[in-house]
Amino acid sequence: MDQGASPLNISWHHGIVTPTTRAIRLRQKPITVWFTGLSGSGKSTLATHLELALCTAGHATFILDGDNVRKGLCRDLGFSANDRTENIRRVAEVARLMNDAGLVVAAALISPYSQDRAMARDIIGPERFIEVYLDASLAVCEGRDPKGLYRKARTGEIHEFTGVSSPYQPPENPDLTINTANASVQDAMQMVLAEFVKR
Ligand SMILES: Nc1ncnc2c1ncn2[C@@H]1O[C@H](COP(=O)(O)OP(=O)(O)O)[C@@H](O)[C@H]1O
Ligand SMILES: [Mg+2]
Repeated sequence: MDQGASPLNISWHHGIVTPTTRAIRLRQKPITVWFTGLSGSGKSTLATHLELALCTAGHATFILDGDNVRKGLCRDLGFSANDRTENIRRVAEVARLMNDAGLVVAAALISPYSQDRAMARDIIGPERFIEVYLDASLAVCEGRDPKGLYRKARTGEIHEFTGVSSPYQPPENPDLTINTANASVQDAMQMVLAEFVKR
């Protein structure tokens, strides 16, 4: 690393407008709702419905979707454990910036490793982080296969696919668990909104 880029030579430049001021200006408490679960468990579906409900109620929101960020911010990353960690780190840092900007964020990422989700909680701040575990079995998610990815994973067309050829570590202590095999999208939404209001 060249000397100028050393972290020792970089110090935080404090703003005059603070995160608190921005949140007051938007009249909301910035929170990141972090959806984790297998592919097809309902993360993107619930993130978009949550955003619609919050936006309709007058909140300023944004969605960070795992698939979408991989088309831009994280386009250089693959699906090895290291790349998944870096993917989560980047998205968590962006969520933190968005929360600092005053926005309510819905993050929809498989985020299969407990350690990476703990890192996300640390980066964003535990008081702003709601971990929602979408607990649908592999059989259910594979049955839905909304994007045909399980089929490709089974035929070996896709490697390192979570649940098939790459692990998923279920959260041990999530803020909320929803079994999306039993709950409708509307029921699941009500559960997320109730947790949101509690905060
Ligand atoms: N309770 C539920 N919550 C979320 N999705 C559900 C639920 N019940 C059925 N589904 C369906 O499951 C699929 C989930 O797909 P998606 O949201 O793309 O998953 P992910 O983003 O986790 O890969 C959608 O087709 C959705 O309509
Ligand atoms: Mg998705």
